[in-house]
Amino acid sequence: MSITILKGTVVSAPALGKLDITENGCLVAEDGKITGVFPALPEQYAGAAVEDYGDALILQSFADLHLHAPQYPMLGMGMDLPLLDWLNTYTFPTEARFADPDYAREVYRKLARELIENGTTRVCMFSSLHREATLILMEELEKAGVTGYVGKVNMDRNGIPALQEETEESQRETLRWLEECRDFRHVKPILTPRFTPSCTNELMDFLGKLAAERGLPVQSHLSENTGEIAWVKELHPDCGQYWETYAKYGLWNDRTLMAHCVWSDARERAAMRVAGVTVVHCADSNQNICSGTAPVRVMLKEGLNVALGSDIAGGDHLSMFDVVAASIRASKARRILDGWDTDFLTVAEGWYLGTSAGAAFFGEQPGFAPGNRLHAIVLEDGDLPQPHPLTAAERLERCVYRRQKDAVRAVWSEGRLTFSREKK
Ligand code: GUN
Ligand code: FE
Repeated sequence: MSITILKGTVVSAPALGKLDITENGCLVAEDGKITGVFPALPEQYAGAAVEDYGDALILQSFADLHLHAPQYPMLGMGMDLPLLDWLNTYTFPTEARFADPDYAREVYRKLARELIENGTTRVCMFSSLHREATLILMEELEKAGVTGYVGKVNMDRNGIPALQEETEESQRETLRWLEECRDFRHVKPILTPRFTPSCTNELMDFLGKLAAERGLPVQSHLSENTGEIAWVKELHPDCGQYWETYAKYGLWNDRTLMAHCVWSDARERAAMRVAGVTVVHCADSNQNICSGTAPVRVMLKEGLNVALGSDIAGGDHLSMFDVVAASIRASKARRILDGWDTDFLTVAEGWYLGTSAGAAFFGEQPGFAPGNRLHAIVLEDGDLPQPHPLTAAERLERCVYRRQKDAVRAVWSEGRLTFSREKK
């Protein structure tokens, strides 16, 4: 049996708004599975090697539940356009480049490294419609130590000539991709109809049946932008609301992720709660392409599952520290606009959404619970000037908003050390 012991100031989010803090504590895992966080090393582990990180923070690593890998090269571009124009002008031509496997290899290797270096060890990610590039993406993530789900995108209408499939081709390529990605250990497939305007009814029907037959999870976009919602209404006059276009085809259950949900009203939110659909809140993206400000606090109050996504390249930050900060700011924008008696997200709540809430989609318990796989970041913050000696909670807050250069010292994913740098 292999034993891993990480020593430092261990901070985790065992419930929304709550932090568990163990100063000078030991986070212990056996064969990559956490056995506990202890204030002193239990007798049974005496003699085992200890990774002593001194005063560093030992935090849960991040789960980014919505991002587009082939949009990585256009990070920070096209931000003056609303969603549908942004897709046609920048996004679709950029994604079309991933027909070239060499280009895909070069970009995806960089992306996988940058994710790990920023402490993102779990993802639910959109690839492009290209089968080969999707397999390359899965391979590069696996090599870097990023785990989770990747989807070959399905889109058989309303694309551009360089980025669209025939219906039959989309079905065939999806089946072939599922065969070819079987041997990846830590990166698994997720069915990915891009969004309702990109998929014919025939394709949606095929994907819904495939999800049921093979027990596959599903990811897509929902109610991101008002122009998009009006378009969906035209395409599906029989559906009262956008979500029904997914539910109608069996793409709506507790293994479904829906990004954005900015404009989901009480009825659409209730449909998510009842089905156990997870909302992926993407605050940076929603602001950048003027989609709106999702009512995250209301969703949480209503009991919905909510996690966070960077949504690059609608979002311009890959680091989930920044994404947590953006979600907190967005909740404050809602408070300013909706009335001062509206709650905003606290730092501890934002932290929970970026870590524990995302990990829940992978079947994990909140925080560093025994039985969870070891996913952790070791973070240095001693170089930053301090107004007074900081508590561990203050240190965490500061890290959300501001980090020293090379703050991430080590990253553990699925029990393995996937990144480390020497302490300066
Ligand atoms: N809706 C459909 N495709 C996309 C995409 O690539 N990004 C975002 N933000 N929304 C979408
Ligand atoms: Fe998206």
